[in-house]
Amino acid sequence: MPKVTVTRRVHFNAAHRLHSPQLSDEENARTFGPCSNPNYHGHNYELEISVRGEVDPVTGFVADLGEVKRIAEELVVAVLDHKNLNLDVGAFADLNPTTENIVVVIWQMLEGRLPGRLVKLVLWETPRNSVEYRGK
Ligand code: NI
Repeated sequence: MPKVTVTRRVHFNAAHRLHSPQLSDEENARTFGPCSNPNYHGHNYELEISVRGEVDPVTGFVADLGEVKRIAEELVVAVLDHKNLNLDVGAFADLNPTTENIVVVIWQMLEGRLPGRLVKLVLWETPRNSVEYRGK
């Protein structure tokens, strides 16, 4: 059967501050610019979740995208939406919430519920900046 990749897009907004304890205040300011401001700032994140598999001969679907949406809402959006990533989300207690680190954390949230099917995540932090992760 042909293998096809299908993608569901979900949205959340969240606040964060980029800061590395291994850098001085001056180095943090130089590295992260206004993203290092102590009082946090927000982003409207867009997450694209791609699932790959064979097209089911009965339904013609690779995956029920409604199910992918429900899994994403339960495991990702409910945890991250309208949160301060640094303060409210345990995964970022000691991890700088860059887009790169956020996409890896989201992969860890989702992969157990989409075993062997999750193939790619793309996380947009702004309409112009995105990161992509394929699980390794
Ligand atoms: Ni930011």
